[in-house]
Amino acid sequence: MLSSENPTPGNDDQVSGHGMWSSRMAFILAATGSAVGLGNIWRFPYVTAENGGGAFVLIYLVCIAAIGIPLLMSEILVGRAGRHSPINSLKQLAQRSQRTWRWMFVGVLGALIGWMILSFYSMVAGWTLAYGWHYLGEIFSSTTVALDPDGKFDDLLASPGALIFWLTLFVTLSVGIVALGVEKGLERAVRILMPMLFVLLLLMVGYGMASGFFQQTLSYLFTPDFSKVDGNTILQAMGQAFFSLSLGMTGIMAYGAYVPRDVNIGKTAGIIALADTGVALLAGMAIFPIVFAHGLSTGEGPGLIFVTLPYAFADIEFGNILGFSFFLLLAVAAWTSAISLMEPAVAYLSESKRFSRLSAAVTVGVATWVLALGSVFSMNIWSGYTIGGKNFQELIEYIASNLLLPLGGLATGLFVGWVLSRVIVREQLSELSDGQYQLWRFLVRYVGPVLVFVVFLSAAGVI
Ligand code: TRP
Repeated sequence: MLSSENPTPGNDDQVSGHGMWSSRMAFILAATGSAVGLGNIWRFPYVTAENGGGAFVLIYLVCIAAIGIPLLMSEILVGRAGRHSPINSLKQLAQRSQRTWRWMFVGVLGALIGWMILSFYSMVAGWTLAYGWHYLGEIFSSTTVALDPDGKFDDLLASPGALIFWLTLFVTLSVGIVALGVEKGLERAVRILMPMLFVLLLLMVGYGMASGFFQQTLSYLFTPDFSKVDGNTILQAMGQAFFSLSLGMTGIMAYGAYVPRDVNIGKTAGIIALADTGVALLAGMAIFPIVFAHGLSTGEGPGLIFVTLPYAFADIEFGNILGFSFFLLLAVAAWTSAISLMEPAVAYLSESKRFSRLSAAVTVGVATWVLALGSVFSMNIWSGYTIGGKNFQELIEYIASNLLLPLGGLATGLFVGWVLSRVIVREQLSELSDGQYQLWRFLVRYVGPVLVFVVFLSAAGVI
């Protein structure tokens, strides 16, 4: 996939020097690897907690179904129809549809959003590496897990040096895989390590079931209390849906460029969304029993899993081994997601001929690293600088996830629903029956754009 083989002239599936996913399964794995990551296990629980549980989860699920899946299909189809980086695919497809080339700016916006998200994402991935390292140390010193998990997290955040070290390691690993285009490595990581993470999550859900707080968790997650819902809750639920499915910044579009012709886009999008949502819900069912059992605060914010999970690992036999495996596998999941956050920018730069794939990846990596320093320092030396109560990291996460992703998604939906030639679209979705196609088209043309627009207005307090 990420390798660039020589184009075979005349073969529609090998345009523009792109490689190709080796199979339908390879694409499903890569896209699921992109979707499943910190968004499910780190972000979903803490944002759910900040928004009061049940009603938020329900709105999130509605957004996945009504906006997410149709848009997932849209991004894949634009990528596959364009067969270039998102920026150039959008430009060329717009021109082929007799519209303005300026639609390429949706791709430019996407690359910028990816850069913003990857910055704080890499810092948090660094936290998981630090935790994995910590538990590895405990395995070797056979100490029992420190019983002051909260203090451990605070210590980590207070140290810019440590944060920068782990951040640098994660960014380097991400640049490495994007530059090398190690298809086999990525495929293997997703095929073997992701199921392991899944099993580990199941084990932790089992632990939660035994804790006596599972019932409370289920009602917390699944009993909606709409009195807690305001425009901002809905905005955040929608942002989380975009974030979790990797939508709105053309990352999936970039992957779509490598999708073989015979892949059924609708079915594939359904599988990806199901896997992604399943993992998020499991993460919630694993974490909240611990929160309730130890009387921890649900308003912990981005540190939620880092201060709660250590309680469980301290409690379980071989908890240090579990802790090590969990955080390492989570870092791998973050890694397979980071690739898709970089891919739109890297693919565009390396198409321009002035960059090799390696220099493009390094450029994006360095830019990410620099921006990530802002997030690192907002945890310590800059923590006093806030706008509207949010520090730099919180601000960039809020703006990128809750405002820019839906905006990018809105633009993509408008492009596919209203601009792109219908012949091209129908050809890409040829497996859909007429009824399914009409439903999809209705969701993309009307439901998605109207919902995003209305949610923006209500969050802004206009309605
Ligand atoms: N979806 C990933 C996660 O849940 C993160 C991610 C990868 C992402 N690519 C993206 C988020 C594109 C938004 C847009 O961890």
